[in-house]
Formats: sequence, structure tokens, C-alpha cells
Amino acid sequence: MYAGLGNSGYDVDHYALDLDFDGERLAGTATLILHPTEPLSSFYLDFTGLSVMSVVVDGETAGFETADELLVRPLLPLTEDRAVAVVVEYQGAPSSIPNVAGRFRVGWHKSVDGWFALSEPAGAETWFPSNNHPLDKATFSLRITVPAGLVAVSSGVLREQKETVGGSTFVWESDDPIAPYLVALAIGDLERQTSISGEGVSIVNYFDDDVGPADRLIFDRQGEMVDFFAGLFGPYPFDEYGALVLETENVPAALETQTRATFGTQILALGEPVVAHELAHQWFGDSVSVADWSDVWLNESFATYAEWMWTGYSRGEAALAGEVESAYLTLSGAALVDSTGSAADAYQQALVAYPPPGTPQATDLFNASVYIRGGLALHVLRMELGDQRFFAVLQEWATTHRYGNASTNQFLDLVESFGGPGARQLMEQWLFSPALPPIDELDLHPPS
Ligand code: TRP
Ligand code: ZN
Repeated sequence: MYAGLGNSGYDVDHYALDLDFDGERLAGTATLILHPTEPLSSFYLDFTGLSVMSVVVDGETAGFETADELLVRPLLPLTEDRAVAVVVEYQGAPSSIPNVAGRFRVGWHKSVDGWFALSEPAGAETWFPSNNHPLDKATFSLRITVPAGLVAVSSGVLREQKETVGGSTFVWESDDPIAPYLVALAIGDLERQTSISGEGVSIVNYFDDDVGPADRLIFDRQGEMVDFFAGLFGPYPFDEYGALVLETENVPAALETQTRATFGTQILALGEPVVAHELAHQWFGDSVSVADWSDVWLNESFATYAEWMWTGYSRGEAALAGEVESAYLTLSGAALVDSTGSAADAYQQALVAYPPPGTPQATDLFNASVYIRGGLALHVLRMELGDQRFFAVLQEWATTHRYGNASTNQFLDLVESFGGPGARQLMEQWLFSPALPPIDELDLHPPS
């Protein structure tokens, strides 16, 4: 899915970005350490909108062309497996781009008092050159200078912060591999707030100074959430965690940027569940990433079901049952009955509105179905396997594929190894069958 995202012929091992942002223009030097996986006379990087001044490959000036992507022609062909340093110098005024997956624009955005980037599945190409595919994760470091007094926040750990005549410089490092779309970036009046979870996970939040106390309240239990999820899924995969909360009207959403999930103020109305959702993505989506974007339910359904489990834990098991029932009603078309007149017609419309989560459409990748029908699939799997085997499946998934990638088929194989062919078929029905499967145990059936 998305032929334009990601490139073949090489793997990136490390990104080192050195950026200077003056409030309007971005000047950057990106150093990519990459190794060809085949002999290469040229290769593409995902990069758009900014001007490229020069490309240097292993110390030699390379030819390049810019159109939708950046095409690099090294002086001499590259040898398979021999790592090279590719240095791209660029500048320009970054901006957002339309989203290949639908919904709002992605990439570099203006916030009310600053700037930020959100890039799922595309968008990273608006501010640095990369191999923008979840299969190609790399370690990452970012040195960025911003106007004096502003703060720059990214993924990973803050290694350095200093004031110079030219502005304020911040150095962020991700020593665990990260996919380009998951790199957080925000520049603004951001206040740092730190704490430590009961089990010792360090929580480092940044709040836009305009975010009020009521909105900050929903982040108070993140330490407890990390420990709760670590108990269910296995150890938290990264060095630290935190939220990056930004005042913006442009993106009414949150994104699971690695180690530091990004939240726009409008999404905070969802309360604690959205905080739990983005945290759970650190295991499912960030540490274990999809092999292909068509596997996106592996991210969204797991985060959604984790969110429901947090609701069950914090508000009682009846609250979890309520989430399950309300998701089922949505998928049955309950909300459409008024406009269609009959439950059967509403159900037919809902089947069109919420296609099966295992085969999402490229132009509507984040359809509610990949969240809630997939979430129901996991709840049904839990009832089928029982808690002990169900959580063993989730832990095995998070452990075997930690810092890597995995596909829907690999998940189905794992389910089959724990629950036999019947459990696999049940999951296949939830993921692929056009009709909404019944949940007999809960007396939930599609309208007839
Ligand atoms: N993955 C996000 C979530 O937690 C949703 C999302 C997809 C998104 N693409 C985005 C959010 C782009 C912000 C920008 O459900
Ligand atoms: Zn999500």
C-alpha cells in the first residue's frame, strides 16, 4: 500500500539531523548512514517541498534531482552492504501536505504559538529526507536551534540544551530504532514536567503554556497506565515516555509519536482514554510496527482495546462491557436508523461505512473499523482463549517483534499456535468477512 512511501535498494541505520529554524525558514543538514541491499547507481529519498542545496555521498558530491522525491546519483555506484554517509543540505519554509490516507493534512504544521510535525503515514518528508516506511527503522538524533526562549521537543531523550547568541539549541536522541513517521517535533512555549512511575519508568511531558489545568489533569495517571500496560503486555519498550500537548486548531487528533505522544488540544475532550490509547501504541505500532500499511489494524485495534481495558481497570469491568456494546452498536448502524428508517437498512449502510479492518482502503486507512471492529475482534479472542492464553499471545507478540515489524498473517499464526485453527478462523471472520460477526456470548447480533 502507498507505492510512493519508502524506497528499495537500501536500509537506513542512522539519521543525524542538524536543523536551524528561525520562525519561518528551516535550514538543515541531514546525515543518513545507510547500507545498500543491492548494488546501486542511484536511489530515492522521501523528501518534498524544501530546496536541496547539495548531496554528498561518502565525501563526494553527488548528482541529484528533485520532483516528488529526491533522486540521488552518487559519483560511483554503491556496493551492496557497504555503509555510506549521505549528507543532504537543504532549506526553505516547510508546510503541511495532503494526507495520502485521508483526513487532515500531515507534515509540518503551525500551532497557535509555535510549530509541530505529525506524519502518519506520510509527512516526515516535509522536514527531513528519509526512507519513509515502517519497515526501515533507524536510530535518530536531532540537533535543532530555535529562536531564543522557545523550546524544541522531539522523540527520545534530551541530551543537551543551551542558550547561544543564535537562539536555543536542543539535542534529542533515540537510541532505540524509530520509523520516520513516528519522530515527534514541536517548537513553542513548552513547559517540561517530569515524574516517575511506581515501577520506575520516567515520564517527561511537555505542555504548551496555554494548556489549562483541567486539560492537564487527564495526563496525571500516565505512570499508573504505563505500569498497568507493562503488567499486561510486558516491559515498556523505551527509555522514557511522555506527552507533548499542543494548542492547535489544525489537527484535531493525537499521534503515537515514539516515546512522546503528541496531542492536539481538541482531542483532549476524549479524556483519559485517548491518553491510554497513545501510550499503548508504544508497544503496538511503535516498538512492533506494521510490515505494510494494510496491517494498520495491528496498531489501532490493539491501542483501542488497551484503551478499553484501562477504562475497565479505572472505572470497573462494566465500563469495559459498555465500550464493547457501544462499538458493536455503531458497527450495526444504530446511529443511522433515524435517517434510514429501518434497522436492516441502517445495518447495510454501516457495512459500507465500516469495511472489514483487515482490508482497509488506502484513501481511508484510519476508518473507525480498524479501531473498533478490530478492538472487538481482540475482545472476542480474549473470550475464546481465556485471559491467561490471551495475554500470553499479546506478550509473545510484543517480545518476539520488539523494535521490528510484523504482519497480520504472523499474528494469525501466533493465534493459531495458542488457540488452534478455530481461533484463527474466528479472527479471520472479524478481520475479513463483509458481514459483522455475532457475539453470541454477549447476545450481540447484526439486525436482520
Ligand atoms: N494513529 C493515530 C491514532 O492514535 C491517528 C492518526 C493517523 C493521526 N494519522 C494521523 C493523527 C496523522 C495525527 C496525524 O489513532
Ligand atoms: Zn491509534
